[in-house]
Amino acid sequence: MNFPIQRHRRLRSSAAIRRMVREHTVSTDDLIYPIFVTFGTNVKEEIPSMPGVYHFSLDRLEEEIKEVQALGLPSVLLFGVPEHKDGVGTSAFEENGIVQQATRKIKEWAPELLVIADTCLCQFTDHGHCGVVQECGHGEAVIMNDASLEYLVKTAVAQAKAGADIIAPSNMMDGFVQAIRKGLDEAGFEHTPIMSYAVKYASAFYGPFRDAAHSTPQFGDRKTYQMDPANVREALREAESDIAEGADILMVKPGLAYIDVLSQLKQKYNLPMATYNVSAEYAMVKAAAEKGWIDEQAVVMETMVSFKRAGADMILTYHAKDVARWLKG
Ligand code: PBG
Repeated sequence: MNFPIQRHRRLRSSAAIRRMVREHTVSTDDLIYPIFVTFGTNVKEEIPSMPGVYHFSLDRLEEEIKEVQALGLPSVLLFGVPEHKDGVGTSAFEENGIVQQATRKIKEWAPELLVIADTCLCQFTDHGHCGVVQECGHGEAVIMNDASLEYLVKTAVAQAKAGADIIAPSNMMDGFVQAIRKGLDEAGFEHTPIMSYAVKYASAFYGPFRDAAHSTPQFGDRKTYQMDPANVREALREAESDIAEGADILMVKPGLAYIDVLSQLKQKYNLPMATYNVSAEYAMVKAAAEKGWIDEQAVVMETMVSFKRAGADMILTYHAKDVARWLKG
């Protein structure tokens, strides 16, 4: 009788032994929960393509924050949906902008909860681009890099002044980390970390988010600033420049389709890594679960541990509250 020399099944034979040899685990500590805040009163409105995710007006936000806290989640990421939009995104950086107001409230209700502010202009500009735009004739327009930085810095500083614990710029202009770092330092926020959306692809997986944030570009697309899905060496260059410019945490976005990029960054650089399990990834799971085609909890937990295995230290996900609940048992 020829016995197999290696029997991998020995270490899989019971739940206890599988638990003992398990290489990666998901913890509530890993999760960041995105929240959409909006103007008006008594608004708690479900986003049609993102079941279970809502727009909250400030007077309805406290209940959500209390729930997030009770579940033991360490942090939230804030997106603002403003009342007024203009060419430069003024409501992103005014003192009473929706994100600044929400941040002050949250720090009052839940001082230990980390507030991460998404720093971008696209929800706040009337054209829906992440920077400012210049017409260049023939109906063509370009997204101006260096002119945009000024407004992004103003936004980051306004967010920090309101009490944001971490600044998360998602605009993909060149030099944004350096500009924001300098702006924060000059304003006395040298201890506020920057979580850079270092590697952000021009992705169709943001579709439901753009409905939720009302941030679809009114002309053109984001391909001149967000990355081409076909590229990975370019992702390493993006990461390198953000590290050199002073980023504290690097993010890869979207999550699932770019998990190889996350893995490469993790192996190459020693900064903490975040990944964004984006809106369409969430919507697809929700839609299939609603039809009874998948086991939602099993699919979501497998996705989360896959992000950990690929190298994520942090996962931004709309499933965060459910995952925290499931982990509690
Ligand atoms: C803003 C921003 C976007 C997302 C996060 N920040 C959209 C975009 O770039 O169009 C997407 C998040 C998601 O899809 O869940 N720049």
